[in-house]
Amino acid sequence: MTAAPRTAHRTAMGAGDDLVRCPLMPTYGAPTVQFVRGEGAWLYDRDGRRYLDLLSGLAVTSLGHAHPAVADALAQQSRTLLHVSNLFGTEPGAQVAITLDRLLGGGGQVFFCNSGAEANEAAIKLARKWGGHGRYQVVSAYGSFHGRTLATLHATGQPSKWEAFQPLPEGFRHVAWDDLDALEAAIDDTVAAVLLEPVQGEGGVNPARAEYFRGVRRICDERGLLFMVDEVQTGLGRTGRWFGHQHFDVTPDVVTMAKALGNGVPIGACWARADVAAAFRPGDHATTYGGQPLATAAARAVLATMEAEDVPARAARAGRLLADRLGALPEVADVRGLGLLLAVELVGLDARDVASAALAAGLVVNAVTPTALRLAPSLLITDDEVDHAVEAIAALLTTTPRST
Ligand SMILES: Cc1ncc(COP(=O)(O)O)c(C=O)c1O
Repeated sequence: MTAAPRTAHRTAMGAGDDLVRCPLMPTYGAPTVQFVRGEGAWLYDRDGRRYLDLLSGLAVTSLGHAHPAVADALAQQSRTLLHVSNLFGTEPGAQVAITLDRLLGGGGQVFFCNSGAEANEAAIKLARKWGGHGRYQVVSAYGSFHGRTLATLHATGQPSKWEAFQPLPEGFRHVAWDDLDALEAAIDDTVAAVLLEPVQGEGGVNPARAEYFRGVRRICDERGLLFMVDEVQTGLGRTGRWFGHQHFDVTPDVVTMAKALGNGVPIGACWARADVAAAFRPGDHATTYGGQPLATAAARAVLATMEAEDVPARAARAGRLLADRLGALPEVADVRGLGLLLAVELVGLDARDVASAALAAGLVVNAVTPTALRLAPSLLITDDEVDHAVEAIAALLTTTPRST
């Protein structure tokens, strides 16, 4: 059977004729807007309409769009050295590894890759190599999201997403989120590691409780397991700390990250305690582009800007402001999350209707569950932009038709 052409691409809002029948696989919903430019917290479509971006390309452009420090770093690096492969060393990658290790407390080593899923793949392979023969299982939580490659899909605790892709790689167990007894019960001699997000982002923006993370750390210590924390969505200032787990006063053995690290340039990283990282020997793991100078020059500029701007403190402050003001709206049941990774739980409204109406009104948000909007704006969002966001959302919540 032939798939229908994606004629649904054409919409009223800034989508051009070239989107009417573009030969893209139908893995994503039909796009409703074609953006051509961004600046700070704002996006512009091809008709010149502007939108306040409260999503940051799914928590990626944490410094806003077209940040000059990142743009300059890319331009300069592209004229200097783009790529040489991991057969050779380059300067920016080494510097980014040093900075990430410092932000994570030191004593670790970094493997660079190109995405969040690849960072988690590296962590999973490291856990297997570290665990040795017979000790290979990774335990993760229901409701989690760890990526779409076959292994990270199985680590993802959402069985509905597994269905069409069986058989998935072996070696994954899932337990109820926030349930230490369930975790204890899932551990036997075949388990090497536990993999958790500090805030389940795709699962609905559900922050872990500090007691849960501390309990997981204790169990991992008692049973000789690695505690691996997926900071792909939460890492690098988003939650009001450099890394989400730092809210809970635990020290993980492995941390993965991606998204904000390149502010839009694809790069991921897997950090591990040095004695754990030592399980990898030359030839055990690799990727052609991992740590290449173009991506790491961007990451170096991102990290330098984040440190200069103290983005964790800015995210904590702006997040409190947004949460307090949105939480006071009558159509909002509660606002949950950490820093600038927030879910706005709505009363009697379908979040998908509100997200569509928001786009039409010049505001980018997404429905992270049928009843909650996710907000993950630029960590450099200004107070005026917060005012604009709150006023626009308040207006939308009163004008969007109520779900029954
Ligand atoms: C927590 C988490 N882990 C992993 C991933 C996968 O990252 P990527 O889409 O870059 O492969 C995501 C993506 O949303 C994520 O939120």
